[in-house]
Amino acid sequence: MRSLLMNEILEKTREEIGNKKVIAAVSGGGDSTLAAHIARETGAEVFAVFVDSGLLREGEAERTEKYYREIFRDNFVFVDAGKEFFEALKGVIDPEEKRKRIGKKFVEIFERIAKEKGAEVLVQGTIAPDWIESGGQGRDRIKSHHNVGGMPETFLKVVEPLRDLYKDEVRELLKQEGIGSGLEDKQPFPGPGLAVRVLGEVTEEKIRVVRKANAIVEEVLDRSKKPWQYFAVLLPVKSTGVKGDERVYGVTIVIRAIDSTDGMSGSFSRIPYDLLEEMSSRITREIPECNRVVYDVTNKPPATIEWE
Ligand code: XMP
Repeated sequence: MRSLLMNEILEKTREEIGNKKVIAAVSGGGDSTLAAHIARETGAEVFAVFVDSGLLREGEAERTEKYYREIFRDNFVFVDAGKEFFEALKGVIDPEEKRKRIGKKFVEIFERIAKEKGAEVLVQGTIAPDWIESGGQGRDRIKSHHNVGGMPETFLKVVEPLRDLYKDEVRELLKQEGIGSGLEDKQPFPGPGLAVRVLGEVTEEKIRVVRKANAIVEEVLDRSKKPWQYFAVLLPVKSTGVKGDERVYGVTIVIRAIDSTDGMSGSFSRIPYDLLEEMSSRITREIPECNRVVYDVTNKPPATIEWE
């Protein structure tokens, strides 16, 4: 049985889509998958579009592509766009500018696919914290979430079925709809991807480093009582270290692990020292460029969860 909430969302989304064809932007996360599912359940013709921005976690593009192909079959579109994104990010240091460039690139790609498919509507998985934190309605802007504040003008009609929901409600609906098994417990991942976890200019090389560090953080913490969200950040700071008998200047990796329920506030996770040590030794051993690992002990607020 569908809940009252789900029926209301379906009805409203059906009205907004009308009889138009739809492009649904999917990222592999719960929000966008639920939004695409809702669009399809209205009876509309929906093309699910997944963009590999080159800014994803280890193995994520392959896993996600496989997952969506099974659900959307011929209506799934995979876009390999790493080159385009690195080009768009060249020389950009300012975090807001990064988010804007990435948002612009995503929209450009969606418009391109929409033209190919004859679609006029873009369905996105925006949820309440995204637009609250992107400012508007008298709030100060904290960050431009790439699917809200950084969203440039588009000829597509944007429909956001989940814009009044919080993460825990999305998880509940996913469960109710019986879709995305495994997705409900997946940790959130920001739309702009690893680009907001590389402070300073984003390059393919730095993404490779942060991706590797992130995979280690996930591997180690997946075996423990998992925090709500946990990841690695690469700082544009070098410090002195010794590797073998040599004095080296290496890069710094931050481990960030947060306990939260909705991402609006949170406290740093009290993870055991032995796990911190395991992550630190693996990161410095397996990533030759890195000789220092620090743990972020800041709550939200005053810090945000992501570093940019
Ligand atoms: P912050 O860093 O604002 O993050 O405390 C709160 C939650 O939102 C995620 N996040 C994003 N999600 N697009 C998204 O879809 C974005 O631009 C974005 N920025 C942050 C973040 O990972 C955390 O779970």
